[in-house]
Amino acid sequence: MPTNPNSYWQGFAQRWNRLGSPLRPNAEDVANFRQAMGDAPGRSLLLGVTPELADLAPDLTAIDNSAAMIAALWHDRQKAVLGDWLDMPFPPASFDTLIGDGCLVLLAQPGQHRRFFEQLAKVIAPGGKILLRVFVNPEQRETREQVCNDALAGKIEGVHAFKWRLSMAIASESTDYTLSVAETAATFDRLIPDRGALAAATGWRADEIETIDFYRGSDARYCYPTLAQVRKAIPPTLKEHEIIYGSYELAERCPILVLGASK
Ligand SMILES: C[S@@+](CC[C@H](N)C(=O)[O-])C[C@H]1O[C@@H](n2cnc3c(N)ncnc32)[C@H](O)[C@@H]1O
Repeated sequence: MPTNPNSYWQGFAQRWNRLGSPLRPNAEDVANFRQAMGDAPGRSLLLGVTPELADLAPDLTAIDNSAAMIAALWHDRQKAVLGDWLDMPFPPASFDTLIGDGCLVLLAQPGQHRRFFEQLAKVIAPGGKILLRVFVNPEQRETREQVCNDALAGKIEGVHAFKWRLSMAIASESTDYTLSVAETAATFDRLIPDRGALAAATGWRADEIETIDFYRGSDARYCYPTLAQVRKAIPPTLKEHEIIYGSYELAERCPILVLGASK
C-alpha cells in the first residue's frame, strides 16, 4: 500500500535479486503452482510481475500497477498491462487461470482484500482456477522480542525468514494486522543493535543482514492477516479447492490457496 507505487517499487526492483524465499517464491513454490494449475491453464493472468512465475503458462498476461517493476522485471517475456488489481481493466470472464504471489500483503484488510477477491471473481471464467500464495500470521501470535531472541539463539535458519517473522509479529499487534515496513527496521535496530553478534549467532553474511535496511524510511505498509481472516474476504462464488504447503522454513505461513469459480 505505498502511496506512490513507483517510488517504493523503483527501489525494490533494483534490489530484487538480493531478496530470497519466502518473499520470493522458491523452486518448490513454482512446482506447486504448476501442479495445481494442471496441464491446460488456458488464458492466464499473473497478478504482479514475479519473474519466477512468468513461464508458468503459455498464454499469460501480467498486471501490475508499477511501471518501474514491469520495466525492471518483465523483459517482454509475455504481455504486461499497467493496471490495478482493485479495478481490473478486463471484461468479465476473461481468464481461465489467475496466479498471484503474496498479493494480499500489499492490500489493506478487510476492505481491499474483499475488493481484490470481488475483482478476481469478475475476471475469472466459470470453472476457472485461482492460485494465490498468501502470507499469513499464525493464529497463535508471537512477539517481536521472541523473534529476535530466536534469531540471537541461532534458531532461525534464513535471514529472509527472520525479517518476515519479525514483520508478522509487529503486524499482529494491530487490529488490522498491518504494519509500516519501516517499523521492521526500527525494531531490528532497537532489539538487535549488534549486527556482529547476530552474524556470529546465525552465520548470516553482513550483506544479507543489510537487506533489512531496504525498509528504512519507506512509507509502504504490509498486511499479514490470519488464514481465517483471508477466508472471510472470499465471496461465496469462489470455492476453496485446496491449500498447498511447502516444506521450507516458514512454509506453514506461506501456503498456496487454490480457489475455483462456480461453473
Ligand atoms: C506480487 S507482489 C508481492 C511480491 C511477490 N512475492 C513477488 O515475488 O513478486 C509485488 C508486485 O505487486 C504490485 N502491486 C501492488 N499493489 C498492486 C495493485 N493494487 N495493483 C497492481 N499491482 C500491484 C507491485 O507493483 C509489485 O510489482
